[in-house]
Amino acid sequence: METGRRDPRTRVCAVLQHVLAPAFCAGSAEGLKPLAYTDDYIKDVLSSVRVIAMVGASMQWNRPSYFAMKYLQIKGFRVIPVNPAAKGQTLLGEQVYGDLSEIPPAMKVDMVDIFRNSEAAGPIVQQAIAMKDSHSVSVVWMQLGVRNDAAAQQAETAGLRVVMDRCPKIEYSRLYRELGQHGFDSGVISSKRRPMGQPGRRTPAAAGGDRPVFSGFDTKAVHAGAAPDPSTGARVTPIYQNTSYVFEDVDHAASLFNLSTFGNIYSRLSNPTVSTLEERLASLEGGRGSTCTSSGHAAQMVMLFCLMQPGDRIVASNKLYGGSITQFGKTIKKFNWECTFVDVDDLEQVRKAMQDPSVRLLFAESLANPGGVVSDIRALADVAHAAGVPLVIDNTLATPYLCKPMEFGADIVVHSTTKFLSGQGNALGGVIIDSGRFDWSRYADKFPSLAKPEPAYHGLTFAETFGDLALTMFAHAVGLRDLGATMAPMHAFLTIQGCETLSVRVERQAQNSLKVARFLEAHPKVAWVSYAGLESSKYHNLAQRYLRGGSGGAVFTFGVRGGFEAGVRLVESVELFSHLANVGDSRSLILHPASTTHRQLTDEQRAASGAGDDVIRLSVGLEAPEDLIADLEYGLRQV
Ligand SMILES: Cc1ncc(COP(=O)(O)O)c(C=O)c1O
Repeated sequence: METGRRDPRTRVCAVLQHVLAPAFCAGSAEGLKPLAYTDDYIKDVLSSVRVIAMVGASMQWNRPSYFAMKYLQIKGFRVIPVNPAAKGQTLLGEQVYGDLSEIPPAMKVDMVDIFRNSEAAGPIVQQAIAMKDSHSVSVVWMQLGVRNDAAAQQAETAGLRVVMDRCPKIEYSRLYRELGQHGFDSGVISSKRRPMGQPGRRTPAAAGGDRPVFSGFDTKAVHAGAAPDPSTGARVTPIYQNTSYVFEDVDHAASLFNLSTFGNIYSRLSNPTVSTLEERLASLEGGRGSTCTSSGHAAQMVMLFCLMQPGDRIVASNKLYGGSITQFGKTIKKFNWECTFVDVDDLEQVRKAMQDPSVRLLFAESLANPGGVVSDIRALADVAHAAGVPLVIDNTLATPYLCKPMEFGADIVVHSTTKFLSGQGNALGGVIIDSGRFDWSRYADKFPSLAKPEPAYHGLTFAETFGDLALTMFAHAVGLRDLGATMAPMHAFLTIQGCETLSVRVERQAQNSLKVARFLEAHPKVAWVSYAGLESSKYHNLAQRYLRGGSGGAVFTFGVRGGFEAGVRLVESVELFSHLANVGDSRSLILHPASTTHRQLTDEQRAASGAGDDVIRLSVGLEAPEDLIADLEYGLRQV
């Protein structure tokens, strides 16, 4: 019997058994090795069935089974609901049966889909096996969180095909590219032109071949999320410079608004160019899904909006990009949110701050802007999880090429895509990437927007309905809808282009940085260099642990002897470095924070925020390193 299982590769929803629909989870997949099915197997199963008996179909529109039934009907499946509590009633145009055994033998049933707990699945599978000849049942499907290996074994021995711990709605929409429209990583990489939302032509491998799995970082950086345009065949993702999308009919519109099918409504919520970037970034970070925003700061605000209620608090590193210090220290007070800043090098201090019961998340940068500070992500994740809250990492300066915070326990990653991801100083943007691993339902009182009925979405409970997709669904359907901090399609397009060369650029920029940092360290007019790639850095060991190749990235600071005046003279003397307030460009950039971004602060405030009079920030670009060194050498001679 071909089971289609093989070594785990796509996480699909296996992480979810503890998250989604706890009612289905009793005695289920806890502690068992996650199941992995090949995409070809799932496609083959789904394309082999037309009539599905859904055991446990709910009459309530906001229950997961109702969503699944509605979606499968839209996709052309006939779904026969089975539910003793609703026996004889009509659900979505179909008569409800009280038990599988009541379905008349004349009615062909290809697949039995089980929306009951894992233990209850056992006898239902027995019934399905008994219906093999009478009703032509050929597939047993157990929903997300439902797993009964013994029953599966019996079904397979009887010649049925089995899928466990998966949702057919999510699998269908994932494989046929609809899920990507909402920013999720489908795990599908293909250069084939295929229709959207339908199986299309069957290829030879779909019958169970052993197609290779494309999982390299650089392959994802070029391809993830971006199959050829289904209607034109355009290979480069087009700029969908478009605000709104035509509904097929009133029913289709209602399904979209109710989130029972996937698709675009209005570009404030989703746009095909933006969702291509969302899928790519989720894929590169190893996340479940992502939400792009108009800027990095907007990403932080939308993320807070999803997780916080008035009166809640965050704990954040005191070594953050200055704009984030202001956003968290001052601006969020207007939402009645508070921030406790801590030194993340001092874990005891962090632990203490996390004891406040109003804390909802811990926030730090992987590689902080600008001081060459590297966070101990694993240790911070442990502290956050012990306090029952997620760890959020701003991975802007490291990029997923140098660091993947989720591999070290981070739950959410945010970026200013304005920096290395777009990479050429031409597109503002931000992104919130969710690992899908934080169990919102377990801490429902802390995260009511995700784990309790949401009043801004007619009482839908996102964590129950969407499981590990909840945060990303909420961030689009409520966050972007109501805050409006949406990324422009043109900016998404430019950032997609940037992603394609991410590893090549970041690697070269980091190599150039090390050369420049070594030059500066040896220069008599330089008092200190704070670059994690240098052996002299306090953060060198953490860089070895968390950043690819022990790299220090391409943004760092140094101190010029002679204080404020010397700093001003240096930035005004260099010719190749651009004097401006950005980082992560392919061009090299220089800034003297004390005379520019931090000018309004007092001397004490400047020193505390790492922007003392002597501090110079560099963002090293792609130019020839000898030219960069020559430019700085000339500038330092003028000091
Ligand atoms: C580390 C970091 N996070 C967030 C931001 C804010 O991003 P944006 O300027 O795209 O709003 C920046 C901007 O410099 C940054 O460097």
